[in-house]
Amino acid sequence: MEKGNILEMKNIHKGFGGLKALVDVNITLKYGEVIGLVGDNAAGKSTLMKILSGAYHADEGKIIFKNEEVSIASPRIARQIGIEMVYQDLELCPNLDVPANLFLGREIITKPGFKFLKKRKMEGEALDILSRLKIDVKNPRIKIDKLSGGQQQAVAIGRAVSFEPKIVIMDEPTANLAVVEIDKVLELTLRLKDHGISAIVISHRLDDVFKVADRIYVLKHGRIAGIREKMETNKEEVIKLMFMEEGEQRA
Ligand SMILES: Nc1ncnc2c1ncn2[C@@H]1O[C@H](COP(=O)(O)OP(=O)(O)OP(=O)(O)O)[C@@H](O)[C@H]1O
Ligand SMILES: [Mg+2]
Repeated sequence: MEKGNILEMKNIHKGFGGLKALVDVNITLKYGEVIGLVGDNAAGKSTLMKILSGAYHADEGKIIFKNEEVSIASPRIARQIGIEMVYQDLELCPNLDVPANLFLGREIITKPGFKFLKKRKMEGEALDILSRLKIDVKNPRIKIDKLSGGQQQAVAIGRAVSFEPKIVIMDEPTANLAVVEIDKVLELTLRLKDHGISAIVISHRLDDVFKVADRIYVLKHGRIAGIREKMETNKEEVIKLMFMEEGEQRA
């Protein structure tokens, strides 16, 4: 795997009307690294990642991907570059099966111009993606809304990976999951590294962040309040960074 940074976001500013959602934010992501992005509600986490995925545009700042400045004007362009975001609401179609969801919007067709879905081929490729990621879905023909929350999350991650991204962003991947499912999703997140994918995980659950992240970024009121190597910090310190206001005594 290559060394160094695959991504840098530099001096990012974003306002919504008078509200400063992001102020001079800098982050880096290394090849094969997982970073955790934490912070209180409204800290700016989703906004920062939506800028990276092309859903929002920064007012100021640069994005450097593989040492080149890129302009991520839309989610489609993010995808072309190799950046996928799994949103909290997953954006899956509940009444379609697993292969249909994996290939949503790019169904395999027999001839250009003919809208015949090659069901067999899609199923085969879907199974292939699931098995490469060791995602355990017993019957892929099952409709998405019949799967557990963790399995749905896994399918959404599988869909992201099927675009062969270099970076996968996940917004709260373990929210609303049963305890037994959380670990599976975290294991899947760690497995992305084996596929040469770097990841950014937004989470309120510090236990989860400490399981998957190599490095942790803390956002507070739209600014970076701290960056820590996971091995050199602990939950108490990260919580302080998340919530302690300037001027407050450090314990
Ligand atoms: N499209 C928008 N229009 C107006 N304000 C927005 C928009 N998107 C985000 N904001 C505001 O920007 C700030 C940062 O929001 P953001 O969603 O990035 O926070 P967050 O850290 O993801 O919070 P949470 O943990 O609650 O998801 C908030 O004050 C939010 O209300
Ligand atoms: Mg958010």
